[in-house]
Amino acid sequence: MKYAKNILETIGNTPLVQLNSIVKDLPCKVLAKVEYFNPGHSCKDRMALKMVEDAEADGRLKPGGTIIEGTSGNTGMGLALAAVVKGYKLICVITDKQSKEKMDILRAVGAKVVVCPTDVEPTDPRSYYSVSKRLAQETPNGWYVNQYDNPSNAQANYEQTGPEIWEQTQGAVTHFIVGVGTGGTISGVGKYLKEQKPNVKVWGVDTYGSVFKKYHETGIFDENEVYSYVTEGIGEDILPENVNFSVIDHFTKVTDKDAAVYCRKLALEEGIFVGMSSGSAIKGLLQMKDELKPDDVVVVLFHDSGSRYIGKIFNDEWMRERGYLEDEITTAADLIQNHIEKPLVVVRTEELVSHALDRIRKYKISQIPVIDKDGFVGSLEDSDLFAAFMNDANIAEKPIREVMGAPYPVVNKKAKVEDVSKLITKDNNAVLVDLEDGKYHIITKYDIINSIK
Ligand SMILES: Cc1ncc(COP(=O)(O)O)c(C=O)c1O
Repeated sequence: MKYAKNILETIGNTPLVQLNSIVKDLPCKVLAKVEYFNPGHSCKDRMALKMVEDAEADGRLKPGGTIIEGTSGNTGMGLALAAVVKGYKLICVITDKQSKEKMDILRAVGAKVVVCPTDVEPTDPRSYYSVSKRLAQETPNGWYVNQYDNPSNAQANYEQTGPEIWEQTQGAVTHFIVGVGTGGTISGVGKYLKEQKPNVKVWGVDTYGSVFKKYHETGIFDENEVYSYVTEGIGEDILPENVNFSVIDHFTKVTDKDAAVYCRKLALEEGIFVGMSSGSAIKGLLQMKDELKPDDVVVVLFHDSGSRYIGKIFNDEWMRERGYLEDEITTAADLIQNHIEKPLVVVRTEELVSHALDRIRKYKISQIPVIDKDGFVGSLEDSDLFAAFMNDANIAEKPIREVMGAPYPVVNKKAKVEDVSKLITKDNNAVLVDLEDGKYHIITKYDIINSIK
């Protein structure tokens, strides 16, 4: 019989899979180390188990103890598997940026989850770094894992992931590229590969909002580089001891939007359903295209599975809200998609200004087209009304006909965005679009601004 004695024995030996369509513009072979084949569905199973075993070996973790860690979810999952099999309790401290799926999964494997705010300084007592340290001090028989500075993290990748890549490529690997968070993966794999073949290039993928790239290039820890970002698992506002900058040849930064878009492309073009940092990794590689030659063999590591991001990157609404969906906005009709369901608010020439003001307030709009029996004959802007009101407090009781401005220009629904935007000027804040079914809608300068990607 051939079987594993427990789930922990199934960690590692993940496949190396050639990428085809998504890297068609690169001159060389690209192989993906697909780490979601691990039992906890991420690369972090490897280091989680190694950290536990090393802590058991030197007595930091005692029988029946409680494992405490600040984790973005994947390390927590690996620790949870080890805790279940080996009989420890686990507390995972997580930031509120992490997907709900990740929190639910951790609870499903027995972890207690403590959620902390993302947008606080690492030294703030509410930060997930501070909370995990405090819980470790307060919990009897507790052990604080500290994946950032725990050398077993990089060591696990040095002992397993690196040798696997070396053997799977039969030493042909020339480049290794991966997203960098704690640094354990890049530092462990990078060190091993460079020991076998010193000219292997090791490229780190960083995110906008993180300090790594600038620190690597200048030695400056620039706090201005730190702001909140969406990508999970990579980038930091600290310098973890596991980042061995000396084995990293270059960092490239990838935007949140590109990470999300390329994650979807991996699923659709390669059938590889991975998490957001894998989108960063593949986009980072494409950004490095000019550095590659036909004989190169690139290994890109995909950290985790897309199933943890169903409510995020694989949810159209979430993507659209952040402007990540590549919906093409080329015509007047595209510009009004966000509010096409709402009725066009109009006023009639013989209504009073007070009626127009009521509608401006009720619908929270800034301008209204004016109609009479012949169609659109004028317009009212809230700023003009305000100025008129300052001159004459009785204006509210006047008919709109007496105060209205020129009617808005009307365009066909197929009019190009460039042509529509030329009609929006300092003196004209809106354009009407003829939907060709007897109905009209309004395009404001905000629709034009929102269409700019
Ligand atoms: C999804 C994901 N990608 C990338 C990383 C970065 O790996 P490392 O911490 O080894 O640098 C992590 C680490 O938590 C992760 O969870």
